[in-house]
Amino acid sequence: MHRLIPLLLLAAPAGAAAAGFANGVKIGEVTPDSAVLWVRLTAHDEAGNRVKQWTPEAPNWTVPGLAGEVRFRITANDAEESRTTEWTAVDGDSDFCHQTTVDGLEPATLYQVVAEARTGGETGDETATFDASFRTAPAADSETPLTFVVSTCQEFDTSDDFENGHKIYRSMLELDPAFFVQTGDTLYYDRKKPLAKEMATARYRWNRMYAFPNFVAFHRRIPSYWMHDDHDLLKDDAWPGQTYGDLTWEQGLKIWDEQIPQSDKPYRSFRWGEHVEIWLPEGREFRSPNTMPDGPDKTIFGEEQWRWLEESMRGSDATYKLFLSATPVVGPDRDRKKDNHANAAFEHEGQRLRAFLNSVPGCFVINGDRHWQYQSVDEETGLNEFGCGPASDAHAGGWKQDDVRPEHRFLRVKGGFLSVRIEPTRAVVTHHDVEGRPVHEAILTP
Ligand SMILES: [Fe+2]
Repeated sequence: MHRLIPLLLLAAPAGAAAAGFANGVKIGEVTPDSAVLWVRLTAHDEAGNRVKQWTPEAPNWTVPGLAGEVRFRITANDAEESRTTEWTAVDGDSDFCHQTTVDGLEPATLYQVVAEARTGGETGDETATFDASFRTAPAADSETPLTFVVSTCQEFDTSDDFENGHKIYRSMLELDPAFFVQTGDTLYYDRKKPLAKEMATARYRWNRMYAFPNFVAFHRRIPSYWMHDDHDLLKDDAWPGQTYGDLTWEQGLKIWDEQIPQSDKPYRSFRWGEHVEIWLPEGREFRSPNTMPDGPDKTIFGEEQWRWLEESMRGSDATYKLFLSATPVVGPDRDRKKDNHANAAFEHEGQRLRAFLNSVPGCFVINGDRHWQYQSVDEETGLNEFGCGPASDAHAGGWKQDDVRPEHRFLRVKGGFLSVRIEPTRAVVTHHDVEGRPVHEAILTP
């Protein structure tokens, strides 16, 4: 049945469509002096068939790509001169996506960005533009307070707004955060039709999700960091070498790389001023099979990533060193789960990780993956963990509200997001509901 979709998703024939940027601009991997800008050239400037229900005959929120050329014009807010990147051809091999690293930027500076398209070759006219803006990270000695936001587990079919997209994007934008971290399960290849068992459907699901107006409005302004997890690479609890239908592990990675702004390595850290540095470890590409018996050789991170983690976290002089994790480190998680550091299936590495993180001054964990919001404290080490919770109430579940364990300081089986306010003398970690209302606040001091 899903074989019908690729036909409907082919690029529009030349001349039949005006170019557009229905998937907006994604601003990623922002540092004090660089950013990665992403764009996808589309046949129209918004999605077609914007209805809730997908059927094989009428796929919803269709966003066909368009072959052509794209570039970015970048202007520092107070400058008269702008710079442009090279015209770059996009086609179906990359799902009409393009991304480029812009460097030589100034810290804590607002940049205006215009994505431009042309479809008639060198002599062709500019056929579409899309504006965006972002502020670079501050220098490492900046003491200016900042707020960032964190989310996870967003699914098209459990959205709470099928006209605009998940409400949390509007709520998070209202906080005007310095940046955003999406900790994984950005979408679900293996839940609800059409299951993404080959590349065309996998790409369709990215195009559909990121055509929601709330998403477009958010990402054109807020620098973001994406972490991948199982459902947005392949399928539930995935590890390297697996397949999902005809979709291979390598294809899953390729699509991730084309749809999301990338750094050189999938694990990386970012400094935002004097008081905070965030670590974004990678939990899928280097892992042992979940089914392997636990022991000292069983790993989620692999030795190279472990070396980076230990050296960079010990070497950082940021007041708060925040470990952002796609999956729980402290938990508690359900007994039947087998793919994260809070589970018995990775007990050896889980103990090593909790002990290490607890030895790093100013460290706490922020994680995604679980479909409930929580704060927990590891009974053995005292390590704090904040689960941001799923992107909508309809996506919440998997834990009972009255199942409060000794580790829990807060538990709410609902959707929402997390905000973290970094001030010179404290960090304020707030769970919000989908409307943005605070539902729990924790204050941590260095
Ligand atoms: Fe999830």
